[in-house]
Amino acid sequence: MATELALTATALVKDFGSKRAVDGVDIQVPKGSIYGILGPNGAGKTTTLRMLLGIIDPDSGSRELLGTRHPRSASHRIGYLPEERGLYPSMKAREAIAFMGALRGLPWAEGRARAAVLLKEAGLGHATNDKIKKLSKGMAQFVQLLGSIVHKPELIVLDEPFSGLDPVNQERLEALILAERDRGATILFSTHIMGHAERLCDRLAIIAGGRLRYEGSVAEARATMPIQAHYTPRDKDASLGDLLPPEAVRDNGGYVFDVPDSGMEALLARLLESGYGIAGLSLERPSLHDVFVKLVGEKTVEQMEAEAEAEAAL
Ligand SMILES: Nc1ncnc2c1ncn2[C@@H]1O[C@H](COP(=O)(O)OP(=O)(O)OP(=O)(O)O)[C@@H](O)[C@H]1O
Ligand SMILES: [Mg+2]
Repeated sequence: MATELALTATALVKDFGSKRAVDGVDIQVPKGSIYGILGPNGAGKTTTLRMLLGIIDPDSGSRELLGTRHPRSASHRIGYLPEERGLYPSMKAREAIAFMGALRGLPWAEGRARAAVLLKEAGLGHATNDKIKKLSKGMAQFVQLLGSIVHKPELIVLDEPFSGLDPVNQERLEALILAERDRGATILFSTHIMGHAERLCDRLAIIAGGRLRYEGSVAEARATMPIQAHYTPRDKDASLGDLLPPEAVRDNGGYVFDVPDSGMEALLARLLESGYGIAGLSLERPSLHDVFVKLVGEKTVEQMEAEAEAEAAL
């Protein structure tokens, strides 16, 4: 059976004047999955999300969301945390959440009741009756986030939800995203922080310069690079001649090389037979960092990491 999709975008293009912000992006988000859009500043993430939600129209290309080509007609079934944050400063946290729910069709009393539960579950129960203006920036952002899910949307779209949160709140948000997925929701979020994408996402898209550079599962991304073997012979000075794959390089008294397509078995047997023995052997999956460097190039990855670091220093 084909995977049911919560959202598809086909060849989306958006120009702002002479600037092409999004240049032919295709995205497929399976129902019930967590999907990440990863890319550096100015990559086109926000513009893509806005087109998907029908806030702006693409110049060309199409999108289908929860079975409709008119995303705005599905707004009650969608939760959205926009890039620009903002709540009414004199509303209490609980009311602010209920208010956002009401805008998406949730009855007020139900919204207030759910808001109290959500705040408590998120560890923010103490702020339930605090006015927004009294909250820290990160806490206010978390309240807005709760407001975007209070009506139990089927599809949750979060634009850079981790930006501006301290590590404790980032962890809370990761837990919340997983809990919403377990509830059956589909979650789509943008980020320039690889760690969140790596831990959370079933699938991801990497966008740079408005172009899609990768789309697929994290596992598929990883599978584009072979696993590496780190092997140390008993005799560290031994020259292993042509026993190892030709691209093996010396490393710390041992050798590093890609695990051959045929696997390690034959190679290990040869090493044991030859008498070199095995003082150490470990197999390491390439990190998502290495995979991205291969897929999108060192410059793009460095840019994303520099942004993530700058963010963490705030
Ligand atoms: N309303 C607009 N008018 C003109 N140019 C725009 C507009 N919105 C976005 N752009 C340009 O389009 C490009 C993509 O912007 P976008 O906001 O989609 O990137 P992003 O990936 O969300 O970046 P960030 O990580 O900084 O949020 C940028 O060059 C930006 O300057
Ligand atoms: Mg953005």
